[in-house]
Amino acid sequence: MGEPKVVEEKVRNKKVVAKDYISGNPKETDMYLTTSSTISLKLPSDLSNSVLVKNLYLSCDPFMRGTKISDRNRLFNTFAPDAVITGYGVCKVLDSSHPNFKSGDLVWGVTKWEEYSVLTSTDSLFKIEHTDVPLSYYTGLLGMPGMTAYVGFYEVGTPKKGDYVFISSAFGAVGQLVGQLAKLMGCYVVGSAGSNEKVEILKNKFGFDAAFNYKEEYDLDATLKRYFPEGIDIYFENVGGDMLEAALLNMRRRGRIVRIEAFTVFDYYHLYSEFLDTMMPYIREGKVSYVEAIVEGLENGPTALEGIFTGRNPGKQVILVAQE
Ligand SMILES: NC(=O)c1ccc[n+]([C@@H]2O[C@H](COP(=O)([O-])OP(=O)(O)OC[C@H]3O[C@@H](n4cnc5c(N)ncnc54)[C@H](OP(=O)(O)O)[C@@H]3O)[C@@H](O)[C@H]2O)c1
Repeated sequence: MGEPKVVEEKVRNKKVVAKDYISGNPKETDMYLTTSSTISLKLPSDLSNSVLVKNLYLSCDPFMRGTKISDRNRLFNTFAPDAVITGYGVCKVLDSSHPNFKSGDLVWGVTKWEEYSVLTSTDSLFKIEHTDVPLSYYTGLLGMPGMTAYVGFYEVGTPKKGDYVFISSAFGAVGQLVGQLAKLMGCYVVGSAGSNEKVEILKNKFGFDAAFNYKEEYDLDATLKRYFPEGIDIYFENVGGDMLEAALLNMRRRGRIVRIEAFTVFDYYHLYSEFLDTMMPYIREGKVSYVEAIVEGLENGPTALEGIFTGRNPGKQVILVAQE
């Protein structure tokens, strides 16, 4: 008689897969759901420096749009033919062959749109130390978009008390936080957003001094003159186009434009623990609020992703895949 055979346990692994590369904004029809594959809940013994994770929350972010052909070999592509969608998420480590991670750890970083993932690249994974806030916050307020707001405002914008600050796409994950950080610093803050509902939340929940619906304004230069009769010190620029042109006409001397595409948050991740030291007290003391739109189930991911490119999302768009 030989050794008893160990039967490896495999589970079904639901996934959202891209049909092909895309150009422009993703549409629901660019993706499909599959439940045909299975996965072992143990890492293969010959796979080093990797983690097997259970995905809990997945994030819909504006960078998840099509890339130019020349960019297709960048760090990761959200869309590639018949490949699982790649994006940010919050996960629980189930098995690890990496010295920095162990089973049971909660992490956020780049993962895949499926129930379980083997992540062989762990460079972008951060261990979650504070769990007295909703875990979904690590896709936004306490994750990559929050860090973008923090470094964009403090490091690039170099704000000071009393500055006149204008934020476009102010209701987005980045804009929500920039506006509140600016208020906490004692700035005068105005935001623009794409619906009256969003405008009301900016004023009443996030404490912006003023906000307007850019879709109802026909002369953005005149609009900005109305809100900033003395001009703008910092323009936190999320959209480009007509709004940027109008802002340029209204900048004060020595004004700063934080162009979101002109810096990359990846260059500032060494400031992550400093960022948490600032943010955690603000959240615990109720000085910073946050609005999320959470949909349940991977199957609703494609519609949710399409929605952020049409402004349909009533908050930072997150997908709940599984409870911890
Ligand atoms: N540099 C970096 O390292 C870095 C890192 C993270 C994010 N970013 C950039 O920061 C910006 C904000 O990110 P976020 O996460 O806060 O995203 P976001 O603002 O939540 O993006 C979605 C919002 O953009 C607005 N929008 C959608 N289509 C638009 C269009 N055609 N024209 C104008 N606005 C449109 C919509 O809001 P309305 O209804 O208000 O129009 C929508 O809710 C994005 O441009 C993103 O790419 C850069």
